[in-house]
Amino acid sequence: MKVDLPNLAAMEAFGQRIAARLQPGDVVALNGELGTGKTTLSRAIITALGHAGEVPSPTFTIIETYDHLDPPIVHADFYRLEHPSEVEQLGLDDYREGAAMLAEWPDRAGGFDNQPECLKITLEVADEGRMAIVEPGAAWQGRMP
Ligand SMILES: Nc1ncnc2c1ncn2[C@@H]1O[C@H](COP(=O)(O)OP(=O)(O)OP(=O)(O)O)[C@@H](O)[C@H]1O
Ligand SMILES: [Mg+2]
Repeated sequence: MKVDLPNLAAMEAFGQRIAARLQPGDVVALNGELGTGKTTLSRAIITALGHAGEVPSPTFTIIETYDHLDPPIVHADFYRLEHPSEVEQLGLDDYREGAAMLAEWPDRAGGFDNQPECLKITLEVADEGRMAIVEPGAAWQGRMP
């Protein structure tokens, strides 16, 4: 499935669609080159879930948590990992318990495509805006209209 995201308003709307369907255990795997909008879409999802404050990019902290949301959100950016085995040192499984994860640069953590709860989104630059290629895992079948 492809979704046109010509501007930031379209990104907000797409974030709302995902947020409305998000459940604990899910992973939204945000693929795409530098600057394609992974953090922008994560912010749209976190804001749509009712978070009112800042949504800092996890570029340096790697993991930011939003425990007060429903579902609770783990926002991760794995860009700085040098090897996928480092996710264990981060204690990622503990963070993910009962939460949904928004993962930037998921392949640097070994990728999550093999999990049925994975909604894989690949962002690409398209003219002035962006295009999303959406590949739902088994647990997402029928959930993203
Ligand atoms: N749909 C869109 N249309 C136009 N511009 C957009 C869109 N989505 C995001 N942008 C812009 O793209 C820029 C980069 O966005 P963002 O920081 O979210 O990218 P990123 O993929 O998280 O980058 P990084 O790989 O460094 O983490 C921002 O200036 C943002 O406003
Ligand atoms: Mg980012």
